[in-house]
Amino acid sequence: MTTDWNALYARRLEWMTTSAIREILKVAQAPDVISMAGGWPEADLFPVEQLREVGDYAMAHLTREALQYGLTEGLGALRQTLADYVTEGGTPANIDNIAITSGSQQALDLMGRLFVDEGDAVLVESPTFLGALQSFKAYGARFVPVPLDDDGVRIDALEAALRAERPKFMYILPNFQNPTGVTLSLERRRRLVELAASHGVPILEDDPYGQLRFEGEPLPSLLSLDAALYPENAAAGAYLRGNVVHLGTFSKTLAPGLRVAWAVAPPEIARQFAMAKQGSDLHTNALGQAMANEFMCRGWLPAQVERIRRTYLERRNAMVEAMEEMFPPEVSFTRPQGGLFLWITLPEGMDAVALLPEAAKRKVAFVPGAPFYVDGKGQNTLRVTFASMGPDLIREGIRRMAEVIRDAMA
Ligand SMILES: Cc1ncc(COP(=O)(O)O)c(C=O)c1O
Repeated sequence: MTTDWNALYARRLEWMTTSAIREILKVAQAPDVISMAGGWPEADLFPVEQLREVGDYAMAHLTREALQYGLTEGLGALRQTLADYVTEGGTPANIDNIAITSGSQQALDLMGRLFVDEGDAVLVESPTFLGALQSFKAYGARFVPVPLDDDGVRIDALEAALRAERPKFMYILPNFQNPTGVTLSLERRRRLVELAASHGVPILEDDPYGQLRFEGEPLPSLLSLDAALYPENAAAGAYLRGNVVHLGTFSKTLAPGLRVAWAVAPPEIARQFAMAKQGSDLHTNALGQAMANEFMCRGWLPAQVERIRRTYLERRNAMVEAMEEMFPPEVSFTRPQGGLFLWITLPEGMDAVALLPEAAKRKVAFVPGAPFYVDGKGQNTLRVTFASMGPDLIREGIRRMAEVIRDAMA
């Protein structure tokens, strides 16, 4: 007798989905396709030499920290470095506020594990990051979508949703949102932390792209605005009271292969993160943590981030210019001030999925927008990245996309 595997699966498997994007990426990775589909940082910008240097240093001088089993909470030195970094960013933080995770993706999973029972509501921006939907859904989350506009999540709709539902938390991407590239305005940030406080519904602030601002003034994090509501935080030099769990990552500034990220949270939540993580991977890759810490301690991060910003700005400009020149006027798109993504809206009634075969023929790839929505909307939207190719290829890719769109419109 052989095992009937199908009869054995846990119920939660029904809630799990594979990412629609990963399926499209398989096609997009064919040679000579100009792929704007992925969400990968430019590999040429990985600080390879510097990572080699800090890797060598860790192997030579930090063998116990870098190669031995470590604490689930994370490497003490890195947590301290990050606590200082968060404090410099305007939120009083100490080591007890920091939980290191294997990428921010793991933190999303841990939030689901800690807070979501089957049928629980989670408020999400619409559209939102697919990886978060996958994580929360695996625990049986029911999504409450709130629409976005050019200033980020719409506060009027969010307030109405909070009156109608009692979500476990609100999942918010304040900077250069994935997928749309839009940024939450300062006014809305203020309103959002007030609403979190008055409704007693916490915010999960996912911010992988905040450092990658290449234009305009940086805006305060939801974490810092929230921390300021409670003066005892400043007095204690730690984020003791508050309504935000903030996620940061080295994936977009150093390299995603390191799998090192961090959560900033009130101490009891940071401890629960560690508890929930223990059963999953014991601790985050210690060598990667030691390398990230050494990289920061040597003061190399600002110059690295500056290099990325310059490159992405040039590429964003190339993409926007090409779209302005070549796209039909009925097609609109966002003009992100940072991050990796730009969002395209086709005329009402068009379906981005239907464009895929023609796009494949012309050897250009993008991601249709509908999977980023939880309510079946967004058929006429799509996401592209400007991060992973130079201006000339971007121009050629947009030329091909313009042809595909014009053909479909005709
Ligand atoms: C919004 C958002 N959150 C989280 C992640 C996951 O990042 P990490 O590599 O830190 O797991 C990504 C990756 O693309 C992302 O876009």
